[in-house]
Amino acid sequence: MKQKIDLVILGGSGLIGKEIINKFLSLNKLILNLDIKNNLKKNNNLFFKKFDMSAKNIKDHLNSIFRIYNYPKVFIDCSYIDKTLLKNTSVEKISKDKLDLILEKWLSSTVIISNYFLSYMKKNKIEGNVILTSSIYGLVAQDYNVYKGTKITNSIAYTLVKSGINNFVKNAAVNYGKFGIKVNSVCPGGVYSLKDRNFKNKNFIENYLSKVPLKRFATSKDIANAYIFLGSDKSSYITGVNLVIDGGYTLT
Ligand SMILES: NC(=O)c1ccc[n+]([C@@H]2O[C@H](COP(=O)([O-])OP(=O)(O)OC[C@H]3O[C@@H](n4cnc5c(N)ncnc54)[C@H](O)[C@@H]3O)[C@@H](O)[C@H]2O)c1
Repeated sequence: MKQKIDLVILGGSGLIGKEIINKFLSLNKLILNLDIKNNLKKNNNLFFKKFDMSAKNIKDHLNSIFRIYNYPKVFIDCSYIDKTLLKNTSVEKISKDKLDLILEKWLSSTVIISNYFLSYMKKNKIEGNVILTSSIYGLVAQDYNVYKGTKITNSIAYTLVKSGINNFVKNAAVNYGKFGIKVNSVCPGGVYSLKDRNFKNKNFIENYLSKVPLKRFATSKDIANAYIFLGSDKSSYITGVNLVIDGGYTLT
């Protein structure tokens, strides 16, 4: 007998992923976390499989995982590839090799993994939910004023991945709508984290918050709530949406 699970999360061991898992666990959901690292507290409803989304043979690996686990009704991706890959990826400095690599390891993998779950849902008449993670920078350009007085640089690679995800969501929603499958993305603004050195930079904090009507950064809890909503019946008529959660950053 296969292990039943309600939801698969890719990148669940990270800042946002952990919070999504905690929220779904509090609703008694059975969760499978696919990540390259496992740092979450043990819980009888939480399962872990080591999985590298950037590997070449992701479909074979997924097939072997789902010989043990049931396919889920909800798939969430909140992965973030190796951040060192994003160094020197500004509009002016990006090289073809670097861009190809990032698009392959992050955007292409996200599309292929999402399609894996979408086609299973379609074939098995599961009216499921696929929820991907984009960013405000999948919707608007990076505002260089935010980086004034800091060493932070823009990353065209990041914005291309994120706008690609937002567009994939719309096209997949159109394609899979007739099967009752919803496909959406969440577009967070900056999420406060003491582990992120940007949040130790006074200029970055001041510059960024000057653009946010709610005058604070998001917490991972603020962001996780959106996945609970999109992954539930409360969002039954919502598909193809890039749900912005940014305290109003993108309004002006
Ligand atoms: N944190 C923010 O301020 C913010 C803002 C906007 C959008 N986002 C988006 O939210 C998502 C999650 O961000 P986060 O801050 O939680 O990131 P994070 O770095 O804390 O977590 C990312 C997770 O992905 C996992 N991961 C890395 N490479 C992997 C691979 N090859 N295969 C499988 N798993 C892998 C990591 O182990 C980690 O658990 C990202 O897509 C990010 O772009 C974050």
